[in-house]
Amino acid sequence: MTSMSTTAVQQRAGRVTVVGSLNMDLVIRAPRLPKEGETLAGRSFVNVPGGKGGNQAVAAARLGAQVAMIGRVGNDDNGRQLVAGLSRDGIDCAGVATDPALPTGVAMIVVDDAGQNAIVIVAGSNGALTTAAMAEYEPAIAQADVLVCQLEVPGETVLAAMRAARRLGRIVVFNPAPVTGPLERTWLECADFLIPNEVEASVLSGVEVDSPESAGRAARALQQAGARNVIITLGKRGIVVLTEGAGDGGQHYIPAQVEAVDTTAAGDTFVGGFCAALAAKRSLDEAVRFGQAAAALSVTRAGAQTSIPYLHEITL
Ligand code: RIB
Repeated sequence: MTSMSTTAVQQRAGRVTVVGSLNMDLVIRAPRLPKEGETLAGRSFVNVPGGKGGNQAVAAARLGAQVAMIGRVGNDDNGRQLVAGLSRDGIDCAGVATDPALPTGVAMIVVDDAGQNAIVIVAGSNGALTTAAMAEYEPAIAQADVLVCQLEVPGETVLAAMRAARRLGRIVVFNPAPVTGPLERTWLECADFLIPNEVEASVLSGVEVDSPESAGRAARALQQAGARNVIITLGKRGIVVLTEGAGDGGQHYIPAQVEAVDTTAAGDTFVGGFCAALAAKRSLDEAVRFGQAAAALSVTRAGAQTSIPYLHEITL
């Protein structure tokens, strides 16, 4: 990969459509994560807009893209706050429906003094985002340069969105998070770019990922299982990229150096920034470095959408 020597980043506004979750994050800061059965005194509590889909939409928008969100909230204050926040970031929320019965999704997050977290989500209305919504909102997919999906909404809906995007000739980015087991080949083949973190890469590939070397092995296993371009995010250890059809010559490792205050949404910031750069016709190399620079800033700040930087803050 080449290195870039520019300082401030500028890019044309490509279009990104996100199909995914919207959660209100209920965030407790504590000295450490609690053990099983333990009651621990926390330091603070705050509600922060989140959800992997919403976070990636906000990241793409703040980092230069025109963004449309397809999702589902409840008819409640959390849902209204989430949509208002996305709208303030200029995101088209015409594809965010309101569920008449289910509450907005929530995530209970504990963040420790090292900036690491543990997250439990309750899907609520995210779980009712159906394939019918994909048919209804297909124009938003057709207009996008890039479609990005995660796995906090029903799997069949994600698959329908990715298949529609492929049929329409859009670039498909798939962040398989969270994932509980290997995915069938058809999932991996749908995406132009598969972006798991180390935990997800381990689950999907069967290779225990704990280093750049093992991430490389996992990426190759994922390609053998049908994936095209694989990008494995390793947190403070950096990123491993394996491009399609290039053999071992297509593998690159980009180290990272960050002191984390809070890693929540760092992966989402990478994915959103990567999509914004791809939609702006940046090269793969540039898009990875751009996403990485954005994620490095996000971990220096607390919360999910509260931590996501703006385009003018990114230097490369
Ligand atoms: O990736 C971070 C996100 O995961 C949080 O914002 C939370 O809502 C969960 O979806």
